[in-house]
Amino acid sequence: MLRSANEAFAHVFTFDSTSPLGSTAAAPVLRVSQIISALSYALDLTEGQPMGHSVRACIIGMRIAGQIRLPIQDQADLYYSLLLKDAGCSSNASRLFHILSADEIRAKGDVKTTDWTRVGWESLQYAISHVATGAPFLKRIRTLLSVAATQQRDSCELVKIRCERGSSVARRMGFAENVALGIFSLDEHWNGGGYPDGLRGKQIPLFSRIMNLSQTLEVFWANRGPQAAIDVACRRSGRWFDPDLVKAVESLHQAGTLFADLGTEKVLHDVVGLEPEDRQMLLTEGMLDGICMAFAEVIDAKSPFTYRHSTGVANAAIAIGQELDLNPQTITFLRRAALLHDIGKLSVSNSILEKPGKLTEGEFSVVKKHPYFTFEILRRIPGFEELSEIAASHHEKLDGSGYFRGYGAEQLSLPARILVVADIYDALAARRPYRDAMPIEKVFGIMQSEGAHKLDARCLEALISAHRQEDSSGLTALASAVSNPVISKPKEILV
Ligand SMILES: [Fe+2]
Ligand SMILES: [Fe+2]
Repeated sequence: MLRSANEAFAHVFTFDSTSPLGSTAAAPVLRVSQIISALSYALDLTEGQPMGHSVRACIIGMRIAGQIRLPIQDQADLYYSLLLKDAGCSSNASRLFHILSADEIRAKGDVKTTDWTRVGWESLQYAISHVATGAPFLKRIRTLLSVAATQQRDSCELVKIRCERGSSVARRMGFAENVALGIFSLDEHWNGGGYPDGLRGKQIPLFSRIMNLSQTLEVFWANRGPQAAIDVACRRSGRWFDPDLVKAVESLHQAGTLFADLGTEKVLHDVVGLEPEDRQMLLTEGMLDGICMAFAEVIDAKSPFTYRHSTGVANAAIAIGQELDLNPQTITFLRRAALLHDIGKLSVSNSILEKPGKLTEGEFSVVKKHPYFTFEILRRIPGFEELSEIAASHHEKLDGSGYFRGYGAEQLSLPARILVVADIYDALAARRPYRDAMPIEKVFGIMQSEGAHKLDARCLEALISAHRQEDSSGLTALASAVSNPVISKPKEILV
């Protein structure tokens, strides 16, 4: 049952004067739509789309829903399906990278303007420019032939991974089954040529039909302009898209409302206003925890190398915070910052994240930008001003040698220092697909010697002390609590 947002947020954003965050800001009233719409910018990055794609597709989809007079309850569900349509996008990134042997984010971005269902020059050109792009000629040809031979099976598998994960993220967040089913069938086509089930016509959920049309309109509108967007909708009517919906789109376009104001800065503000008024969902503390956990899973699903990293960092940050006797509000804050700290990593291609050798200077500069994207995404959430700062500082060092801003000791607050230590700890200590977990004494040895001028000694000592407590229950117990995906009882984690 939903409590008022004021009541819920009193625990989250109102800190007493002794809080290390030093904030006395009044608790804001937030809606779920404000969080989800801002976080959808991270999904856009993984899909190779400009930030704001999902929000603009949502606006277009809601305009179509109004035109076909979709009942209000359905509009409310459609609204969240549109914002979360790409929630499964990170789960197939690694697989796609291994199939293509190339930058999968660029491939994902460009496939949206390609009619890959027709064998011809367009799909051939797409394959040539996205398969094994940096490989020697012969290896490239071999990879191209192998991609061509398994294209249908691979496409189906990739879409299936994405839809299953996307719909499970929506269920995990507590949205209606309609929302999950809409996301699951996003890539089905009206003529049965889509994936994963080859559904046809009205077998495809209406939400999915609206979403597929809306996202295509947005991509063509953004890349080639409004007329090109309408043209592609008409050209694919009856093949990809429901012809009745394409007619609704043409009417909206003739009335001048389909793409109105999509190019302005205020789309994020506008999209929040589109949630049907009497169905608006106010955010509770439990829901916020569920959303943070769901997005942590999206982040960690990007690569097997970072499997469970976000929850691991959250566990370590909580352990340090408790050892330092921080108040429960600050520990809640730390947990959420930790779960979301690497959200900007969704902008980094798996061809870099999973590169076996040393990164080039150019590749490393891409990696160094990920905390910047963390900041850019989280700062858009009202009330997350401090959280975005702390989360985006997780690669900074006390001696100023970190990134992305080169902050030094004077700019790093206690929560930021805790996050820096927790992040390094998890990176060293966690088991990875390519190596076993490093012995804990070795991890702490590295952190103490190499991090002497870089890491906060008090935070590091707190982590070591938490770890050494009786039967190491400090981190282990927290690990099982925070890794539990059911976050509907956040207080149980805090106490
Ligand atoms: Fe990071
Ligand atoms: Fe990290």
